[in-house]
Amino acid sequence: MRSHYCGDLVSVSEGESVKIAGWIHQQRDLGGLAFLQVRDRSGIIQVAIDPDQEELLAIAKKLRNEFVVSVEGQIRNRPQDMINKDMATGAIEVVASAIQILNASAPPAILVNEHEEVSEELRLKYRYLDLRRPEMQQKLLFRNKVAKKLRDFLESEHFVDIETPILTKATPEGARDYLVPSRTHKGSFFALPQSPQLFKQLLMMSGFDRYYQIVRCFRDEDLRADRQPEFTQLDIETSFMDEEGIMGMMEKMIRNLFLECLDVDLGDFPRMPYSEAMQKYGSDKPDLRVAIELVDVADLLKDVEFKVFAGPANDPKGRVAVICVPGGAELSRKQIDGYGEYAGRYGAKGLAWIKVNETGKGVEGVQSPIAKFLNDEIINSIIERAEANAGDILLFGADSYKVVTDALGALRLKVAEDRGLVEDCWKPLWVVDFPMFEEEDGQLHALHHPFTAPQENDAEKLRAAPTETLSRAYDMVLNGCEVGGGSVRIHNQDIQSAVFDILGIEKQEAEEKFGFLLEALKYGCPPHGGIAFGLDRLVMLMVGASSIRDVIAFPKTTTASCPLTSAPSRVSDKQLEELHIASTVKKDEA
Ligand code: AMO
Ligand code: AMP
Repeated sequence: MRSHYCGDLVSVSEGESVKIAGWIHQQRDLGGLAFLQVRDRSGIIQVAIDPDQEELLAIAKKLRNEFVVSVEGQIRNRPQDMINKDMATGAIEVVASAIQILNASAPPAILVNEHEEVSEELRLKYRYLDLRRPEMQQKLLFRNKVAKKLRDFLESEHFVDIETPILTKATPEGARDYLVPSRTHKGSFFALPQSPQLFKQLLMMSGFDRYYQIVRCFRDEDLRADRQPEFTQLDIETSFMDEEGIMGMMEKMIRNLFLECLDVDLGDFPRMPYSEAMQKYGSDKPDLRVAIELVDVADLLKDVEFKVFAGPANDPKGRVAVICVPGGAELSRKQIDGYGEYAGRYGAKGLAWIKVNETGKGVEGVQSPIAKFLNDEIINSIIERAEANAGDILLFGADSYKVVTDALGALRLKVAEDRGLVEDCWKPLWVVDFPMFEEEDGQLHALHHPFTAPQENDAEKLRAAPTETLSRAYDMVLNGCEVGGGSVRIHNQDIQSAVFDILGIEKQEAEEKFGFLLEALKYGCPPHGGIAFGLDRLVMLMVGASSIRDVIAFPKTTTASCPLTSAPSRVSDKQLEELHIASTVKKDEA
């Protein structure tokens, strides 16, 4: 039915006969002659029907957008003044000698040939039409190329692709599980894997040494632009490699990927301790394209009258910090209030500000509702420390360490985006030296997962000072997005038991949940470690999409549903019965 893809016709010589097949992208009937645009996944080509081809002109009259056709004809160079520079194949056309309508199409619910604003709900309902759009096709084809390059790299480094179960047991990655009821084991459930974490560790214990898998993971969590309930990881595990070895190899893999797919050299990735990331950027995934930093000023404000500042400044768990927005003095009251509201989403109770008119002039040189609480010396010191210039604005956060860090961390990105202060470049880095544990409501949680090795290798010392212990985890961050995360794992039973104890996981619970892993540690477990990349996120960044939904063929909505198939949906009572499940939701409630 076809000799060439439309987009490949650029390399065919004039006069050669070709056969193409695809969809009518557009048609123009100019009375005596007609032009069609035929589209396939490789691109679009113009088909010309000359005036003497009456039969073909009659067929062309029947064609509508999205009809499926096959066309035979000859390549002809377009006259100089007819060359379309916006089209990859714009210098040539196919002069039709035969056209066959392979199928008709109802008027499409989404225009494929024009960029129209369509709601995402509609795009997802008619995803097969949405995916016909050239930009969507390019994204998915690019994703395929990324996956292939990653595979090629890993295969060349002797990694082995091994599949792990989808019907399995809960993996502790911190999200809720998707559960699948067992028909054969009454009242028991499988969990869909949040990641293949436990299995890839077991594969190291089996001696496979280097494993990878491009694998679907399932997490029932609140969705955002960069999160889906099912998403794809490039999952990796290695034996006999430490963090230096793993980070070095992974950095090389991503650097090669960018060079080969985008012709971009990412250079060496800097490393930043978690504490510095939180201190300076208010985030564990700092976007280094934005130069604005959080600057601590609590020491300057301990004795001021203004309780909003003095309180947190004197509280060991408090923080008072400031961000300096270049040129921000021109912000209106309304804009500042808007940013205050934005910071409020992260718990900030207000957003004090100082507009700098002149530096070194104390109160005189600034405009601020809080200037009256501060003296010349304090104002000059804050301006100096924040490296503010005339015309800048300083925005303050004063609260608990967490609120100030989160609020100013988010605000620096928001303001930078609004004011065009995001540099157009690639900024990768490794975030390292994470704490092993974080405290929430008096209970310690694993910051990564409970199999991550601590930097402290003595179980007693670890038990004595868990919150001071750093882990051997590392995250790869690119332009403010966590694209990958991993760690060296615990391969020693004493340390693993200590970590479970610290996390308050009782022996019985540990046994029930991960007994098989603990047992496997007894039988000659090699030192091992790994990482998992969010493939969707990586591709999203590389193609410049704003949501991972744009690089997933059939994604879910933000409420974790699929408008195309209407999943999730109710099932028959009979099915529930077989699964020994009773729903507490009444029929008319759903
Ligand atoms: P982690 O939970 O950090 O680590 O996940 C690894 C990477 O997967 C991506 N990711 C997601 N992408 C889209 N939607 C989601 N809901 C989602 N959740 C995570 C991120 C993240 O960096 N087993 C460990 C890895 C290891 O230790 O080797 C793990 O899953 O890009
Ligand atoms: P007030 O005296 O409460 O009217 O606050 C004076 C200024 O301080 C206003 O600009 C508030 O937005 C700001 N402010 C109040 N609470 C905080 C806070 N926790 N952090 C930063 N600024 C605040």
